Amino acid sequence: MTHSVRRIGILTSGGDAPGMNAALRAVVLSAEAAGIEVVGFRHGFNGIFSEDYVPLKKADVLHIIQLGGTILKSARCKQLQQQGGAELAATKLHQLAIDALLVIGGDGSFRGCQAISAFYRGQIVGIPGTIDNDVDGTDFTIGFATALDTALDAIDKIRDTADAFERTFLVEVMGRHTGYLALAAGIAGGAEQIICPEYGDKVDLDDLLQDIKALKRDFGAGSYIIVIAETMYPAGAQALAAEITTRSGTECRACVLGHLQRGGSPVGSDRILGTKLGAFAVEQLLSGNAHMMMAGEQAGQALLYPLVLTGDKKKQADPYLLKWQQQMLQQSETQN
Ligand code: F6P
Repeated sequence: MTHSVRRIGILTSGGDAPGMNAALRAVVLSAEAAGIEVVGFRHGFNGIFSEDYVPLKKADVLHIIQLGGTILKSARCKQLQQQGGAELAATKLHQLAIDALLVIGGDGSFRGCQAISAFYRGQIVGIPGTIDNDVDGTDFTIGFATALDTALDAIDKIRDTADAFERTFLVEVMGRHTGYLALAAGIAGGAEQIICPEYGDKVDLDDLLQDIKALKRDFGAGSYIIVIAETMYPAGAQALAAEITTRSGTECRACVLGHLQRGGSPVGSDRILGTKLGAFAVEQLLSGNAHMMMAGEQAGQALLYPLVLTGDKKKQADPYLLKWQQQMLQQSETQN
Protein backbone atom coordinates (compact mmCIF):
# COMPACT_ATOMS: atom_id res chain seq x y z
CA MET A 1 0.00 0.00 0.00
CA THR A 2 2.71 2.47 -0.81
CA HIS A 3 1.06 4.26 -3.72
CA SER A 4 0.39 7.90 -3.04
CA VAL A 5 -3.01 8.98 -1.88
CA ARG A 6 -4.70 11.72 -3.90
CA ARG A 7 -8.37 11.10 -3.21
CA ILE A 8 -9.99 9.87 0.00
CA GLY A 9 -13.54 8.60 0.27
CA ILE A 10 -15.27 8.90 3.62
CA LEU A 11 -18.59 7.70 4.98
CA THR A 12 -20.48 7.36 8.24
CA SER A 13 -22.20 4.04 8.82
CA GLY A 14 -24.47 2.25 11.30
CA GLY A 15 -26.03 4.00 14.28
CA ASP A 16 -25.13 7.69 14.11
CA ALA A 17 -23.24 9.08 17.08
CA PRO A 18 -22.67 12.64 18.32
CA GLY A 19 -19.14 13.61 17.35
CA MET A 20 -19.18 11.94 13.94
CA ASN A 21 -19.29 15.42 12.39
CA ALA A 22 -16.27 16.47 14.45
CA ALA A 23 -14.33 13.51 13.02
CA LEU A 24 -15.47 14.33 9.49
CA ARG A 25 -14.39 17.91 9.92
CA ALA A 26 -10.94 16.91 11.17
CA VAL A 27 -10.48 14.49 8.27
CA VAL A 28 -11.38 17.14 5.72
CA LEU A 29 -9.23 19.86 7.33
CA SER A 30 -6.20 17.55 7.66
CA ALA A 31 -6.57 16.17 4.15
CA GLU A 32 -6.98 19.58 2.57
CA ALA A 33 -3.91 20.83 4.40
CA ALA A 34 -2.01 17.91 2.84
CA GLY A 35 -3.40 18.64 -0.63
CA ILE A 36 -5.66 15.56 -0.67
CA GLU A 37 -9.13 15.60 -2.14
CA VAL A 38 -12.00 14.23 -0.03
CA VAL A 39 -15.35 12.92 -1.22
CA GLY A 40 -18.11 12.00 1.18
CA PHE A 41 -20.39 9.05 0.37
CA ARG A 42 -23.92 9.63 1.59
CA HIS A 43 -26.06 7.13 3.53
CA GLY A 44 -23.20 4.88 4.61
CA PHE A 45 -21.88 2.23 2.22
CA ASN A 46 -25.04 2.70 0.13
CA GLY A 47 -23.48 5.87 -1.29
CA ILE A 48 -20.72 3.81 -2.88
CA PHE A 49 -23.21 1.59 -4.75
CA SER A 50 -25.42 4.48 -5.84
CA GLU A 51 -22.44 6.75 -6.51
CA ASP A 52 -24.09 9.29 -4.26
CA TYR A 53 -21.17 11.38 -3.12
CA VAL A 54 -20.24 14.99 -2.52
CA PRO A 55 -16.86 16.71 -2.62
CA LEU A 56 -15.96 17.88 0.88
CA LYS A 57 -13.90 21.00 1.27
CA LYS A 58 -12.96 23.10 4.26
CA ALA A 59 -15.94 25.37 3.69
CA ASP A 60 -18.32 22.40 3.88
CA VAL A 61 -17.20 21.37 7.34
CA LEU A 62 -16.35 24.65 9.00
CA HIS A 63 -19.28 24.89 11.40
CA ILE A 64 -20.36 21.33 11.93
CA ILE A 65 -18.35 20.39 15.03
CA GLN A 66 -21.28 21.20 17.32
CA LEU A 67 -23.86 19.24 15.33
CA GLY A 68 -25.22 15.85 16.34
CA GLY A 69 -26.09 13.24 13.71
CA THR A 70 -23.95 13.22 10.58
CA ILE A 71 -24.01 15.61 7.64
CA LEU A 72 -23.31 12.63 5.36
CA LYS A 73 -26.33 10.69 6.69
CA SER A 74 -25.94 7.16 7.95
CA ALA A 75 -27.49 3.80 7.19
CA ARG A 76 -26.98 0.10 7.44
CA CYS A 77 -26.27 -1.41 4.02
CA LYS A 78 -27.94 -4.63 2.87
CA GLN A 79 -26.29 -4.59 -0.55
CA LEU A 80 -22.84 -4.92 0.95
CA GLN A 81 -23.86 -8.14 2.70
CA GLN A 82 -25.27 -9.71 -0.44
CA GLN A 83 -23.39 -12.02 -2.78
CA GLY A 84 -21.02 -9.96 -4.91
CA GLY A 85 -21.72 -6.80 -2.90
CA ALA A 86 -18.23 -6.27 -1.54
CA GLU A 87 -16.64 -6.85 -4.93
CA LEU A 88 -19.00 -4.38 -6.57
CA ALA A 89 -18.21 -1.79 -3.88
CA ALA A 90 -14.48 -2.21 -4.55
CA THR A 91 -15.04 -1.88 -8.30
CA LYS A 92 -16.97 1.35 -7.76
CA LEU A 93 -14.20 2.72 -5.54
CA HIS A 94 -11.62 1.91 -8.22
CA GLN A 95 -13.77 3.55 -10.90
CA LEU A 96 -14.10 6.68 -8.79
CA ALA A 97 -10.32 6.74 -8.27
CA ILE A 98 -10.68 6.54 -4.49
CA ASP A 99 -7.21 5.72 -3.14
CA ALA A 100 -8.33 5.25 0.43
CA LEU A 101 -11.62 4.71 2.24
CA LEU A 102 -12.29 6.05 5.72
CA VAL A 103 -15.24 4.57 7.58
CA ILE A 104 -16.67 6.12 10.73
CA GLY A 105 -18.84 3.54 12.51
CA GLY A 106 -18.98 0.58 14.84
CA ASP A 107 -17.82 -3.01 14.56
CA GLY A 108 -20.62 -3.92 12.12
CA SER A 109 -19.37 -1.23 9.75
CA PHE A 110 -15.83 -2.51 10.21
CA ARG A 111 -16.98 -5.98 9.14
CA GLY A 112 -18.14 -4.28 5.94
CA CYS A 113 -14.61 -2.87 5.56
CA GLN A 114 -13.16 -6.35 5.86
CA ALA A 115 -15.43 -7.65 3.14
CA ILE A 116 -14.44 -4.84 0.74
CA SER A 117 -10.74 -5.19 1.53
CA ALA A 118 -10.67 -8.60 -0.17
CA PHE A 119 -11.23 -6.85 -3.51
CA TYR A 120 -10.02 -3.28 -3.00
CA ARG A 121 -6.54 -2.08 -3.91
CA GLY A 122 -6.58 1.06 -1.72
CA GLN A 123 -6.22 1.55 2.02
CA ILE A 124 -9.18 1.20 4.36
CA VAL A 125 -9.13 2.90 7.76
CA GLY A 126 -11.77 2.85 10.49
CA ILE A 127 -12.71 5.50 13.04
CA PRO A 128 -14.83 4.22 15.97
CA GLY A 129 -18.15 6.02 16.22
CA THR A 130 -21.06 4.50 18.14
CA ILE A 131 -22.86 5.37 21.34
CA ASP A 132 -22.48 1.75 22.45
CA ASN A 133 -18.71 1.96 23.14
CA ASP A 134 -18.49 -1.73 22.21
CA VAL A 135 -15.46 -1.53 19.90
CA ASP A 136 -12.26 -3.26 20.93
CA GLY A 137 -9.00 -1.34 20.60
CA THR A 138 -10.20 2.03 21.83
CA ASP A 139 -11.07 3.05 25.37
CA PHE A 140 -13.98 5.15 24.13
CA THR A 141 -15.93 5.42 20.92
CA ILE A 142 -17.06 8.76 19.56
CA GLY A 143 -20.58 9.44 20.83
CA PHE A 144 -20.51 7.43 24.04
CA ALA A 145 -19.83 10.38 26.33
CA THR A 146 -22.69 12.41 24.87
CA ALA A 147 -25.13 9.50 25.05
CA LEU A 148 -24.14 8.97 28.68
CA ASP A 149 -24.89 12.60 29.54
CA THR A 150 -28.20 12.42 27.70
CA ALA A 151 -29.20 9.28 29.58
CA LEU A 152 -28.12 10.87 32.86
CA ASP A 153 -30.15 13.96 32.25
CA ALA A 154 -33.19 11.73 31.75
CA ILE A 155 -32.46 9.61 34.82
CA ASP A 156 -32.12 12.70 37.02
CA LYS A 157 -35.48 13.93 35.82
CA ILE A 158 -37.11 10.57 36.31
CA ARG A 159 -35.71 10.54 39.85
CA ASP A 160 -37.70 13.67 40.66
CA THR A 161 -41.02 12.25 39.64
CA ALA A 162 -40.18 8.77 40.96
CA ASP A 163 -39.43 10.32 44.36
CA ALA A 164 -42.59 12.38 44.32
CA PHE A 165 -44.73 9.31 43.68
CA GLU A 166 -42.52 6.80 45.49
CA ARG A 167 -42.45 4.69 42.37
CA THR A 168 -40.13 2.09 41.00
CA PHE A 169 -38.83 2.96 37.54
CA LEU A 170 -37.17 0.93 34.85
CA VAL A 171 -35.04 3.10 32.58
CA GLU A 172 -34.07 1.28 29.42
CA VAL A 173 -30.90 2.44 27.72
CA MET A 174 -29.39 1.40 24.41
CA GLY A 175 -26.42 -0.88 23.92
CA ARG A 176 -26.94 -4.03 21.97
CA HIS A 177 -25.29 -6.96 23.76
CA THR A 178 -23.11 -4.74 25.97
CA GLY A 179 -23.69 -2.80 29.14
CA TYR A 180 -21.30 0.13 28.79
CA LEU A 181 -24.08 2.70 28.69
CA ALA A 182 -26.22 0.92 31.28
CA LEU A 183 -23.37 0.63 33.76
CA ALA A 184 -22.11 4.17 33.25
CA ALA A 185 -25.57 5.76 33.35
CA GLY A 186 -26.62 3.59 36.28
CA ILE A 187 -23.54 4.41 38.35
CA ALA A 188 -23.56 8.13 37.56
CA GLY A 189 -27.32 8.34 38.07
CA GLY A 190 -27.14 6.59 41.45
CA ALA A 191 -29.43 3.82 40.25
CA GLU A 192 -30.44 1.28 42.86
CA GLN A 193 -29.93 -1.51 40.38
CA ILE A 194 -28.35 -2.06 36.98
CA ILE A 195 -29.34 -4.90 34.71
CA CYS A 196 -26.95 -5.50 31.84
CA PRO A 197 -25.42 -8.44 29.94
CA GLU A 198 -22.29 -8.36 32.11
CA TYR A 199 -24.40 -9.67 35.04
CA GLY A 200 -26.03 -12.47 33.04
CA ASP A 201 -27.91 -12.89 29.83
CA LYS A 202 -31.44 -12.45 31.10
CA VAL A 203 -33.50 -10.94 33.88
CA ASP A 204 -34.17 -13.19 36.86
CA LEU A 205 -37.55 -11.83 37.89
CA ASP A 206 -37.73 -13.58 41.26
CA ASP A 207 -34.33 -12.24 42.16
CA LEU A 208 -35.27 -8.76 41.02
CA LEU A 209 -38.44 -8.77 43.14
CA GLN A 210 -36.38 -9.84 46.16
CA ASP A 211 -33.96 -6.98 45.52
CA ILE A 212 -36.73 -4.43 45.31
CA LYS A 213 -38.26 -5.75 48.52
CA ALA A 214 -34.92 -5.64 50.35
CA LEU A 215 -34.16 -2.11 49.22
CA LYS A 216 -37.60 -0.89 50.19
CA ARG A 217 -37.08 -2.36 53.64
CA ASP A 218 -33.67 -0.69 53.83
CA PHE A 219 -34.59 2.73 52.63
CA GLY A 220 -38.30 2.88 53.27
CA ALA A 221 -40.76 4.02 50.67
CA GLY A 222 -39.12 6.07 47.99
CA SER A 223 -37.94 5.90 44.45
CA TYR A 224 -36.15 2.86 43.15
CA ILE A 225 -34.46 3.22 39.78
CA ILE A 226 -33.37 0.23 37.75
CA VAL A 227 -31.30 0.98 34.68
CA ILE A 228 -31.71 -1.85 32.20
CA ALA A 229 -29.87 -2.45 28.94
CA GLU A 230 -32.03 -3.06 25.88
CA THR A 231 -32.43 -6.72 24.90
CA MET A 232 -32.22 -7.91 28.53
CA TYR A 233 -35.96 -8.54 28.68
CA PRO A 234 -37.11 -9.65 25.25
CA ALA A 235 -40.73 -8.54 25.78
CA GLY A 236 -39.44 -5.02 26.55
CA ALA A 237 -39.21 -2.75 29.58
CA GLN A 238 -42.94 -1.89 29.55
CA ALA A 239 -43.84 -5.56 29.88
CA LEU A 240 -41.29 -6.03 32.65
CA ALA A 241 -42.67 -3.01 34.53
CA ALA A 242 -46.19 -4.46 34.32
CA GLU A 243 -44.90 -7.77 35.62
CA ILE A 244 -43.12 -6.10 38.55
CA THR A 245 -46.23 -4.08 39.41
CA THR A 246 -48.42 -7.19 39.47
CA ARG A 247 -46.03 -9.37 41.39
CA SER A 248 -44.61 -6.87 43.88
CA GLY A 249 -47.72 -4.87 44.57
CA THR A 250 -45.68 -1.66 44.18
CA GLU A 251 -46.14 0.59 41.22
CA CYS A 252 -43.44 0.25 38.58
CA ARG A 253 -43.21 2.36 35.42
CA ALA A 254 -40.89 2.07 32.46
CA CYS A 255 -39.17 4.76 30.46
CA VAL A 256 -37.44 3.66 27.26
CA LEU A 257 -34.86 6.27 26.30
CA GLY A 258 -34.35 4.81 22.84
CA HIS A 259 -33.08 6.99 20.01
CA LEU A 260 -33.09 10.08 22.17
CA GLN A 261 -29.67 8.86 23.30
CA ARG A 262 -28.25 9.09 19.80
CA GLY A 263 -29.07 12.74 19.25
CA GLY A 264 -27.93 16.09 20.54
CA SER A 265 -24.93 18.31 20.34
CA PRO A 266 -21.77 16.34 21.15
CA VAL A 267 -20.20 17.04 24.55
CA GLY A 268 -16.68 18.47 24.59
CA SER A 269 -14.93 15.13 25.03
CA ASP A 270 -16.68 13.65 21.98
CA ARG A 271 -15.72 16.68 19.88
CA ILE A 272 -12.12 16.30 21.01
CA LEU A 273 -12.04 12.53 20.46
CA GLY A 274 -13.63 12.90 17.02
CA THR A 275 -11.12 15.59 16.07
CA LYS A 276 -8.14 13.62 17.35
CA LEU A 277 -9.09 10.33 15.70
CA GLY A 278 -10.06 12.00 12.42
CA ALA A 279 -6.75 13.85 12.23
CA PHE A 280 -4.76 10.79 13.31
CA ALA A 281 -6.48 8.56 10.74
CA VAL A 282 -5.47 10.92 7.91
CA GLU A 283 -1.92 11.30 9.20
CA GLN A 284 -1.42 7.53 9.48
CA LEU A 285 -3.09 6.84 6.17
CA LEU A 286 -0.74 9.27 4.43
CA SER A 287 2.27 7.61 6.00
CA GLY A 288 1.02 4.27 4.62
CA ASN A 289 0.69 2.58 8.03
CA ALA A 290 -3.00 2.35 8.43
CA HIS A 291 -4.42 -0.13 5.94
CA MET A 292 -7.15 -2.17 7.63
CA MET A 293 -6.49 -0.44 10.91
CA MET A 294 -8.74 1.54 13.20
CA ALA A 295 -7.63 4.86 14.61
CA GLY A 296 -8.38 4.48 18.31
CA GLU A 297 -7.27 5.90 21.62
CA GLN A 298 -5.99 4.07 24.69
CA ALA A 299 -4.82 5.79 27.87
CA GLY A 300 -4.90 9.10 26.07
CA GLN A 301 -2.67 7.96 23.21
CA ALA A 302 -3.90 7.76 19.63
CA LEU A 303 -2.99 4.39 18.14
CA LEU A 304 -3.73 2.00 15.33
CA TYR A 305 -5.56 -1.24 16.05
CA PRO A 306 -6.29 -4.00 13.51
CA LEU A 307 -9.82 -3.61 12.15
CA VAL A 308 -10.21 -7.36 12.09
CA LEU A 309 -9.95 -7.48 15.90
CA THR A 310 -12.33 -4.63 16.71
CA GLY A 311 -15.39 -6.90 17.02
CA ASP A 312 -13.84 -9.50 19.31
CA LYS A 313 -15.71 -8.18 22.35
CA LYS A 314 -12.65 -8.46 24.58
CA LYS A 315 -13.08 -4.97 26.01
CA GLN A 316 -14.86 -5.08 29.34
CA ALA A 317 -17.22 -2.67 31.02
CA ASP A 318 -15.46 -1.44 34.17
CA PRO A 319 -15.09 -4.60 36.35
CA TYR A 320 -14.48 -2.55 39.49
CA LEU A 321 -17.76 -0.69 39.21
CA LEU A 322 -19.66 -3.82 38.16
CA LYS A 323 -18.46 -5.55 41.33
CA TRP A 324 -19.08 -2.60 43.60
CA GLN A 325 -22.64 -2.17 42.39
CA GLN A 326 -23.35 -5.83 43.01
CA GLN A 327 -21.75 -5.78 46.46
CA MET A 328 -23.97 -2.87 47.51
CA LEU A 329 -27.03 -4.76 46.37
CA GLN A 330 -25.99 -7.98 48.12
CA GLN A 331 -25.27 -6.11 51.33
CA SER A 332 -28.75 -4.75 51.32
CA GLU A 333 -30.16 -8.26 50.74
CA THR A 334 -28.20 -9.84 53.59
CA GLN A 335 -29.20 -7.13 56.06
CA ASN A 336 -32.80 -8.26 55.74
O1 F6P B 1 -25.40 0.75 17.33
C1 F6P B 1 -25.97 1.77 18.08
C2 F6P B 1 -27.38 1.48 18.39
O2 F6P B 1 -27.84 2.68 18.87
C3 F6P B 1 -27.66 0.34 19.38
O3 F6P B 1 -27.45 0.69 20.71
C4 F6P B 1 -29.10 0.02 19.09
O4 F6P B 1 -29.40 -1.30 19.44
C5 F6P B 1 -29.16 0.21 17.62
O5 F6P B 1 -28.18 1.17 17.28
C6 F6P B 1 -30.49 0.66 17.09
O6 F6P B 1 -30.40 0.73 15.71
P1 F6P B 1 -31.52 1.31 14.76
O7 F6P B 1 -31.49 2.80 14.85
O8 F6P B 1 -31.14 0.82 13.41
O9 F6P B 1 -32.81 0.77 15.25
